[in-house]
Amino acid sequence: MLSTRPGGIQAEELDNWKNEAKAFDESKSGVQGLVDAGVSKIPSLFNHHRQSKKPHDFPISTDSNIEIPLIDFDGIDKCESLRTKVIDQVRNACEKWGFFQLINHGIPASVLEEMINGIRRFNEQDLEVKKQYYTREYNMKNVIYNSNYNLLEAPAACWRDTLTFITGVHRPLQPEELPATCREIMVKYTNEIMKLGKTIYKLLSEALGLNPDYLNDIGCADYIFAPCHYYPPCPEPLLTMGLLKHADSGFITILLQNQIGGLQVLHQNQWIDVKPVIGALIVNVGDILQLISNDKFISAYHRVVANTEGPRVSVACIFRSHRHPENSSRLYGPIKELLSEENPPIYREIFVKEIIKHKDPEKTEGASSQSSRAASQSSTQLSSALQKFKL
Ligand code: OGA
Ligand code: NI
Repeated sequence: MLSTRPGGIQAEELDNWKNEAKAFDESKSGVQGLVDAGVSKIPSLFNHHRQSKKPHDFPISTDSNIEIPLIDFDGIDKCESLRTKVIDQVRNACEKWGFFQLINHGIPASVLEEMINGIRRFNEQDLEVKKQYYTREYNMKNVIYNSNYNLLEAPAACWRDTLTFITGVHRPLQPEELPATCREIMVKYTNEIMKLGKTIYKLLSEALGLNPDYLNDIGCADYIFAPCHYYPPCPEPLLTMGLLKHADSGFITILLQNQIGGLQVLHQNQWIDVKPVIGALIVNVGDILQLISNDKFISAYHRVVANTEGPRVSVACIFRSHRHPENSSRLYGPIKELLSEENPPIYREIFVKEIIKHKDPEKTEGASSQSSRAASQSSTQLSSALQKFKL
């Protein structure tokens, strides 16, 4: 049995692995290209069992009654007591789970559906057109298509392709940069999400006991980094993964998914399936919100398992800036109003750029299985990427 590369893996094996990853990357045709070619077995590049067994993996819950909280925003602007009740639910969900499903959020079902369809169209279009967007230049481009952002560093590849867009208040989407297959809906969907973000931050501010505008005023709603994933049906789902265990880096993430399923959240040391709910969006707390809330809200680990059915499509709008200058113009630390003698600051102040995990496999998907990080979080579901910012 091989251990995680590069340590412990034989040189020849490593070379093969690198060559396989490179050839796959250079094909620019993604996992969908393999499916189009009719593969009935996954290439070894995608086989996660090449690594030694994960020492600290968690069981999948067998209790189908345990689900992430479901919160209904219907009427919160009309009825004060309803609003107060929803704020309590939001607080509870963010403290205990770091995740909730949201219904009656105000974004029309037709917009959600068209966004999913747009991402599908992009991935299923002619390869030659799609290839033009294939890049790993996260620091240069605002629209990035590739398969496995950490392909060349991760211990094994995952069964998904991703189209990412980066936007925000001082970085509006330029229609000509966007693929024609999903241009219009991307602009429309983003506008809706930025609006919904503001609504959610008001409730989160109140849930923290702050004035409703607090989180919006410090810029939590200003930028998004949005990976839109396409998980093709997988012939051998037990040998690979859709997306490895990770915690999101931003303030919050608003996630849209179609009805295939596969997302799991780590809760009390068990993986809990997030069952798709028609018309719902999923909201989760990211590392920066955990940091500024001084651990009141938790950024939970989550992952996506592979599936014989598909394609699974998801759009993760991660609220955070990504690029200079906006990722280094403002410091974020534990919110002063929340601190006291009994609740001293746990973290130092950071720039958003310090928490961007994209180019750093140590803190991303691939690293979680073997590192000390896995050991340090074996008794908790909390993200430990924040460890390095502790005071
Ligand atoms: C992410 C993520 C989940 C999904 O992109 O950070 O967790 O359902 N996505 O694709
Ligand atoms: Ni995520």
